[in-house]
Amino acid sequence: MPKLISSPKNALTGTLSVPGDKSISHRSLMLSALAVGRSEVTGLLEGEDVLATAEAMRAMGATVNRLGEGHYEVFGVGVGGLLEPENVIDMGNSGTSTRLLMGLIASHEITVMMTGDASLRGRPMGRVITPLSEMGAEVTARDGRFLPLTIKGTDETLPIDYTSPVASAQVKSAILLAGLNTLGRTVVREKTATRDHTERMLTAMGANVTVEEDGEGRVVSIDGQPELKPVSFAVPGDISSAAFLLVAASIIPGSDITLEGVGLNPLRTGILSALKSMGADIQIVNESTLGGEPVGDIRVRAAKLKGTNDIGVDPSTMIDEFPVLFCAAAVASGTSTFTGLEELRVKESDRLSVMAEGLKANGVQVDESPDGLTVHGMGGKVPGGGTVATHLDHRIAMAFSVLGQMAEAPITIDDAAPIQTSFPSFIDLMAGLGAGLKLGAD
Ligand code: S3P
Repeated sequence: MPKLISSPKNALTGTLSVPGDKSISHRSLMLSALAVGRSEVTGLLEGEDVLATAEAMRAMGATVNRLGEGHYEVFGVGVGGLLEPENVIDMGNSGTSTRLLMGLIASHEITVMMTGDASLRGRPMGRVITPLSEMGAEVTARDGRFLPLTIKGTDETLPIDYTSPVASAQVKSAILLAGLNTLGRTVVREKTATRDHTERMLTAMGANVTVEEDGEGRVVSIDGQPELKPVSFAVPGDISSAAFLLVAASIIPGSDITLEGVGLNPLRTGILSALKSMGADIQIVNESTLGGEPVGDIRVRAAKLKGTNDIGVDPSTMIDEFPVLFCAAAVASGTSTFTGLEELRVKESDRLSVMAEGLKANGVQVDESPDGLTVHGMGGKVPGGGTVATHLDHRIAMAFSVLGQMAEAPITIDDAAPIQTSFPSFIDLMAGLGAGLKLGAD
């Protein structure tokens, strides 16, 4: 467990690109593995989570070759063509790999055993087991809902019309991916629209996916058994990774950075509105489209942030960025209250309690409620000096690395290893911009 010590050094300055979007990277490998022929992916995030997806697609018959940094070619097996892996597939820390692959497997006549690390083994899988079982898959899971599990798919799945009880792009995508090899029309209804990368990418590959509003939310439908065309995917920069740099540059006086080519899908940009509502100085320039997704460069300069009880964000447009937003609130002046965030309790860690613990350990006053946090901002540097337990959660490790840049005494992160899952270059990029980050002994 390499420790990471974060303490103030310089203002952040410079221009850089963040690594490829994690959600799009996973989907580019899964979907090209189901196309007929050769697809190419550029800008793929080479973090552990995405590499776990690549390995799983290889184990199920696709050929996935690395041609260069973030540059891959995939020879797909065609919809319906996945093969049974010879061994248990290990999804590491990745909930997205697990839930989306369960969808794909559900409508193939194969049996797959899946496991993951201690964090993933604690995450609820019932949310995908229920709809996939309705379609005809048989799942045997530890305690009915946890990994390790065995999923036995069938090529005779039934199309369903499903209203998801949780706002989750993973649940929606799992059902749509199961619907790919299901005769007829599979429908997913979501009360709150969630990220729509699956819908966009499937459409680009020739599947018939329709998205409608019916007054109660979004209705997404897919017609089963299309032939997916191989395509070239260009993966935009990950706004969820950019979020750490956006907050860091906002809170460290004198900072001025530009992040190039960041994905700006409107279902992902809540962090920009949230930071702006706190007074951040953020400008978007050079807007264009990359691989069917809006992208742009984000310039952020340091600003005095104010706490807020209303971040003015549609809840579906922001989820993974809350840990670092809580750190922004700790440095802001005044109190910030965040509610409606019970889903944060079932992420890589229980992000409400782990963030509350870490902030308190560093002298910030926090009140935890069942669905949120109230953070009492310091109006400047936090005391720091504490050690943060990351609980195998990359976003906790990175959030406190950012907060340490505005701490009177260094903040120690007990384990830097989880950062490898989504943002392997994080420490180097932050240090390159001027941050004070040092890896300690194991
Ligand atoms: C993701 C969806 C979100 C997000 C996760 C990636 C995706 O999870 O937290 O990091 O790629 O579909 P939920 O679907 O559980 O909200």
